[in-house]
Amino acid sequence: MEGSLISGKTKVCGIIGDPIEHTMSPVMHNSAFKELGIDGRYLPFRVRAADLGEAIGGLRALHIRGLNVTIPHKTAVIPFLDKLDPSAERIDAVNTIVNDDGVLTGYNTDAAGFLQALLEKGIEPAGKNVVVLGAGGAAKGISFILAERGAHPVILNRHPGRAEELARRIAQALKKEIKARPLSEADLAAALAKADILVNTTSVGMVPGTEDTPVPAKLLRPGLVVFDIVYNPIQTRLLREAEAAGARTIDGLAMLVWQGALAFEKWTGRKAPVDLMRETAVKALGA
Ligand code: ATR
Repeated sequence: MEGSLISGKTKVCGIIGDPIEHTMSPVMHNSAFKELGIDGRYLPFRVRAADLGEAIGGLRALHIRGLNVTIPHKTAVIPFLDKLDPSAERIDAVNTIVNDDGVLTGYNTDAAGFLQALLEKGIEPAGKNVVVLGAGGAAKGISFILAERGAHPVILNRHPGRAEELARRIAQALKKEIKARPLSEADLAAALAKADILVNTTSVGMVPGTEDTPVPAKLLRPGLVVFDIVYNPIQTRLLREAEAAGARTIDGLAMLVWQGALAFEKWTGRKAPVDLMRETAVKALGA
């Protein structure tokens, strides 16, 4: 039976990372395969940094259809691939690999999933002022895709040197001026006064620090869209206070689900059952 037993034709996908035990991706993808009656399975693979090249060789040798790539391999995997999507190349990070008969192409559906989570709520970032909190790996993809889309991101980070470095890289790649500031209350207040969208890419508010927030509640207001990419908990203190202030909110699960949905569509050529993938992830989070 399609979608139930593993057969000789079962297509295999998976995720590589280290650690890998906490990933939500297997439940999301396997529920999607089952829902659509696709004879496929998605497995977690713990791959140590020193074994990354061998793991990608295995992907070719075993004809695995595709992989997601997570910490710490998103940039290190690039030299082992044959082709790179232009956006993934600019971001310098890959979270999805598609194996077309041994030709491996890398994509960044983290960034595309972030954009999709905005668009599905009817929010078009082109031309908008966006405050991005953080300058790590997640901020990189998000700031690039916002700038590519025609938004005006301002990057605020606790260590402002990292924000400046990221702004410089985007400016160089896209020939656009990007602002960088320290994550101080005064800079936050000034940036938020002109902002349409606020995105938190820092880990502030994530378990176990759920009573922390990167933004004082008094700076939140109606008319602002607040997107917190933290998904554990799904409703962070930032989102709770944003909602109470009359702002529109988008949670991190939306981005997680969309990055998965876009990868699923590349591997299968089918439209992903996004609502089901979200429900499954919510259940797996125990929320
Ligand atoms: P990721 O790949 O998930 O973005 P990362 O590269 O470790 O992870 O980046 C984490 C981000 O959260 C950084 O921007 C970090 O700020 P610094 O670059 O100044 O370290 C930010 N961050 C983490 N803890 C923070 C805190 N307590 N207050 C403010 N920013 C914090």
